[in-house]
Amino acid sequence: MKRIIVATGNMGKIREIKSIMNDDDIEILSMKEAGLETDVEENGTTFEENALLKARAIHEKCKELVLADDSGLEVDALNKEPGIYSARYLGEDTPYSIKNAAIIERLDGVPKEERTGRFVCAVAAVLPDGKEIVVRETMEGYIGYEERGTNGFGYDPIFRPEGYEVSSGELPMEEKNQISHRGKAFRKMWEILSKEENNG
Ligand code: IMP
Repeated sequence: MKRIIVATGNMGKIREIKSIMNDDDIEILSMKEAGLETDVEENGTTFEENALLKARAIHEKCKELVLADDSGLEVDALNKEPGIYSARYLGEDTPYSIKNAAIIERLDGVPKEERTGRFVCAVAAVLPDGKEIVVRETMEGYIGYEERGTNGFGYDPIFRPEGYEVSSGELPMEEKNQISHRGKAFRKMWEILSKEENNG
């Protein structure tokens, strides 16, 4: 059984990652479950840098296989805001109903074809020997006109994945995982890690 420590304190994220990397042969642990703690400042300028900062900080403490992700929403008409500041947009503790309403308000009068955007997810791995791997995936779509759905979190209620008539907040978790930035990035990382193991 392979142990993977995910550098997050967010149990919702852990649940989602467990459901994405659904494999009897791996044990996925949060930092807390692994008895580790860190408070990394996410001061990178890209999703990749921030994911690596988090993974390195935990790897430093345990020297095991560590994964970390960094994700966010890019809105093209807003110069790709909130981007890497998605969690901090309008304040970390501000409810998403307010953050989502603010984005819709800022897009007032912007036609559908210019409301494009994407969720981005970078996943970084630091292997026990210190080797680093980073991947990035996106879920393309556009910003809707109102909040819809209660299945997801964050900006899901205002995001309409390309080719869907519903928001990502209206999709069941399994269906969102099939097409989501995080789903694609963690699956890609798992593919790479499996090959590493076979070659090593
Ligand atoms: P992170 O935890 O530093 O990766 O911050 C990610 C932030 O981006 C979250 O707090 C959300 O605001 C936003 N975000 C990332 N992925 C999603 C998603 O799948 N749905 C909705 N919001 C997301």
